[in-house]
Amino acid sequence: MGRKFFVGGNWKCNGTTEDVKKIVSTLNAGELPSTDVVEVVVSPPFVFLTTVKSELRPEIQVAAQNCWVKKGGAFTGEVSAEMLANLGVPWVILGHSERRALLQETNEFVGDKVAYALSQGLKVIACVGETLEQREAGTTMEVVAAQTKAIADKISCWDDVVLAYEPVWAIGTGKVASPGQAQEVHAGLRKWFEENISAEVAATTRIIYGGSVSGSNCKELAGQQDVDGFLVGGASLKPEFIDIIKAAEVK
Ligand code: PGA
Repeated sequence: MGRKFFVGGNWKCNGTTEDVKKIVSTLNAGELPSTDVVEVVVSPPFVFLTTVKSELRPEIQVAAQNCWVKKGGAFTGEVSAEMLANLGVPWVILGHSERRALLQETNEFVGDKVAYALSQGLKVIACVGETLEQREAGTTMEVVAAQTKAIADKISCWDDVVLAYEPVWAIGTGKVASPGQAQEVHAGLRKWFEENISAEVAATTRIIYGGSVSGSNCKELAGQQDVDGFLVGGASLKPEFIDIIKAAEVK
């Protein structure tokens, strides 16, 4: 099927210069599967992006955690997609639930951001996921389909998009989705692609899982048919991130 396993490390708003040095040296010393087996991308805060990019081993790529919705200009505090492209930052995370919830980013706004970032040559890790209330109300698929549709409405090619399914109730809570719960939503999203975009996009787009992924639960999750990798928060700041990357060997 040719979906290369993908492991993203989302450092969020964490770290000092010293912490970043430590994480980079752990990653540089780690024994990793070959790049034929796994694609690894870490996402430091903006201020550390260029240092991390220049000090990290070349097999590991970097991602920004956000970018502005359109061309740069008079938008104080924002970072544009063209700036990231200019710095050689290949990836950006968009639509993370923390931004959707805390900064009121709507589905449409996220769709616009994804489209603009792609137009500037960036690759996108686009996040979707339901809250606990939505899961309990039985609307999980409806919610993630609407989030995915808002992106699909704005783009015509999924080649440079990785879709991250991140149930909000599992993020930073230590409450991981069971392998069965993750597989069910991933399979549902793949079916959504098949019915609404194309069989090819369904077969080739990587759908990764995020939410309390750790060294101890990663192998079982990676064993699920439609789980093509992970977006890792807390554990990506720790040496166990290497073990999570190695879960690619399960495939
Ligand atoms: P977590 O975060 O691994 O700390 O739950 C995942 C994410 O928000 O991407």
